[in-house]
Amino acid sequence: MALSTAQPTGEDLATRVVRVGLGARQYDILIGTGLLPQAGDLISALAPGTRAAVVTDATVAPLHLATLEASLTEAGMLAGSITLPAGEASKSFAELEPLCARLLDLGIERSDSVVALGGGVIGDLAGFAASVLRRGVRLVQIPTTLLAQVDSSVGGKTGINTAHGKNLIGAFHQPALVIADLDSLHTLPEREFKAGYAEVVKYGLLGDRGFFDWLEANWQGVVSGDLAARAHAVEISCRAKADIVEEDERETGRRALLNLGHTFGHALEAFAGYTGRLLHGEAVAIGMMLAFQFSEELDLCPGEDCARVAAHLKAVGLPTRVRDFSTNDWPTPETLLPLIAQDKKVKAGKPAFILVRGIGDAFVEPDVPMDKLEAFLDRKCSGR
Ligand code: NAD
Ligand code: GLY
Repeated sequence: MALSTAQPTGEDLATRVVRVGLGARQYDILIGTGLLPQAGDLISALAPGTRAAVVTDATVAPLHLATLEASLTEAGMLAGSITLPAGEASKSFAELEPLCARLLDLGIERSDSVVALGGGVIGDLAGFAASVLRRGVRLVQIPTTLLAQVDSSVGGKTGINTAHGKNLIGAFHQPALVIADLDSLHTLPEREFKAGYAEVVKYGLLGDRGFFDWLEANWQGVVSGDLAARAHAVEISCRAKADIVEEDERETGRRALLNLGHTFGHALEAFAGYTGRLLHGEAVAIGMMLAFQFSEELDLCPGEDCARVAAHLKAVGLPTRVRDFSTNDWPTPETLLPLIAQDKKVKAGKPAFILVRGIGDAFVEPDVPMDKLEAFLDRKCSGR
């Protein structure tokens, strides 16, 4: 398996702290190295004398669970661990119900914690279970993928998928602490790391042109495992997300910008059937490219910005075109438009899109001309 980097260097970085300021529900995101072995102390400091149940997946468990369990045992708070199958299919009612039952079997009470150890799938599922268990128990996120460290573990969106689409059942349930240990990224396959990198690029594209400039100059360090570069990329991403969530926790306005590339991306992901042919971050990379190209077609975005985005995503090795994944049949406007219509930003049947005036300047467009959208999709789906 190709890993995202060489093995851990043993180098220690000063821990960076990003605070998500939500009044009584404010919390910290800790970003650094060597944090997982300290998780027990960090969590027990939040709620002395309480217990914690870990939820993880079958890929992460053999890599990182023993370290976390030892730390929680040392702190006197391990109630038990639950290991679920890895993969998007676990974000389902079928896994939620037995998960809740097992948390109750472990005796998790209102004052105890659910600790999500894994990528966005485990964070979203365990987070949703924490939001409904006894009407809400404490959630600690320990994200182990880049995507989860820069996006899904922060901001409180939790949920599962249904036959109707992705993330359609869920709750806002903020964590009490996020522990992003950069060491856990050493075991992440390169393809997963790069998929997470798409969400890092997203922050530059939606609101921080200077960060995009930095990524163009430093992406090789981030991808190859330079810890200082990784820490910077994760910190800036988390700060950007924290700023938006502080202003618009429930996505009544500006938070929708975090969905840059997701309207197209979610439709492609649904088309690909969540099979691993197209990872979430890869779908977002294609979706962001389509958002830039569609914005250029609407005379909103300069062509040179589109070209820069395409060049960067391609240099990193991310897909940029509708046909950049392996499939037996290609998506068409007829297959994608009904999937786009399931998007959570649909209002009165009209999908809202996140469009751009350029790199670092995204906005919500609730009234996209449907004839232009169909013609655009027609060309993109046929590879033009
Ligand atoms: P994932 O959780 O499926 O993880 C990807 C793969 O990597 C899995 O096979 C997992 O077992 C494995 N893995 C995780 N950590 C590892 C490690 N350190 N070493 C080796 N393997 C490891 O996927 P993801 O990309 O982390 O998250 C995608 C999910 O996140 C989607 O369901 C998406 O909808 C959700 N998401 C949620 C939000 C939010 O705000 N809640 C935001 C973005 C994405
Ligand atoms: N990932 C989108 C959001 O958290 O709002």
